[in-house]
Amino acid sequence: MSVDLEKILRPIDHDLPPFPPKYMTIASGDEMVVRQVTRDEIPDILVHVAPLISVERDFYDVVAARVYAELLAYYRHRMQDEYVLVAQIDGELCAVVNGRQVDEKRGMSLHTLALRRGLRIGAHAFATKMEYHMDVLGHEEVLIVAESPIGFRRWMIEYNLEKRFEIPHELGGPPSYALTREIFEKARGTLVIGRRPVPDSLIAKAEAAILPPSDPPRPPDDLLAATRSKYDPTGTALILQRWKQEAKVSK
Ligand SMILES: CC(C)(COP(=O)(O)OP(=O)(O)OC[C@H]1O[C@@H](n2cnc3c(N)ncnc32)[C@H](O)[C@@H]1OP(=O)(O)O)[C@@H](O)C(=O)NCCC(=O)NCCS
Repeated sequence: MSVDLEKILRPIDHDLPPFPPKYMTIASGDEMVVRQVTRDEIPDILVHVAPLISVERDFYDVVAARVYAELLAYYRHRMQDEYVLVAQIDGELCAVVNGRQVDEKRGMSLHTLALRRGLRIGAHAFATKMEYHMDVLGHEEVLIVAESPIGFRRWMIEYNLEKRFEIPHELGGPPSYALTREIFEKARGTLVIGRRPVPDSLIAKAEAAILPPSDPPRPPDDLLAATRSKYDPTGTALILQRWKQEAKVSK
């Protein structure tokens, strides 16, 4: 008897309500759209996540590798009840956030990846996914972990998240925290910003194409720089090497 193994391997998604797109004016004055993407759009995002796997700085490597795997699993139907939101400015990909529903009461935040720095784009994208969990999916709490010091500052400290160290997070390793409805309501209006409906011209541009990030995080030109300075916090070895390259010193 033949068995259609795909029917066993492929998780059955619940019929989750979609995220209604929103937009916000960020610190640069640009209008940023945050919207849910469809499975078909995932390959257009993966090409911009892949290069970040080689960026050690701020743990982009770890997070990008995991985001890549999670998005691929969503694309190929190997993760249940996952959603992916993107933040775009003029079509350009600026942030990717994802998560999933564990059960009707609880959500699981997976990752937040900012592809344009210094404008709190990641923070706004994260707040938007919390809004999706709370206002649209109706969860009572969202489990969250941080994999980087910036992430810890942005989520655990800015929201003052509650510890849930006894609950293992699906990412493994780092201890879980939770964003409760009470915490979310305190953040509404300050950390959670944005407006609806998105003007037709903005949403049309965002949906037309996911354009490459114009200034994504990149590995350093000198790949050995970090290793050389590891035991040399003053960076003297590196400075001397540069001087040698520039022929300012002979040896
Ligand atoms: C965590 C993250 C999503 C936050 O995004 P964000 O809110 O847009 O913030 P940025 O990363 O741009 O900036 C963080 C800090 O670095 C500073 N910064 C600004 N430009 C920067 C740059 N080009 N490079 C490094 N740091 C920069 C910012 O001023 C900011 O300082 P502040 O906290 O005092 O405001 C983002 O740093 C990121 O994607 N990190 C890698 C993945 C990660 O750790 N994700 C979270 C774990 S799930």
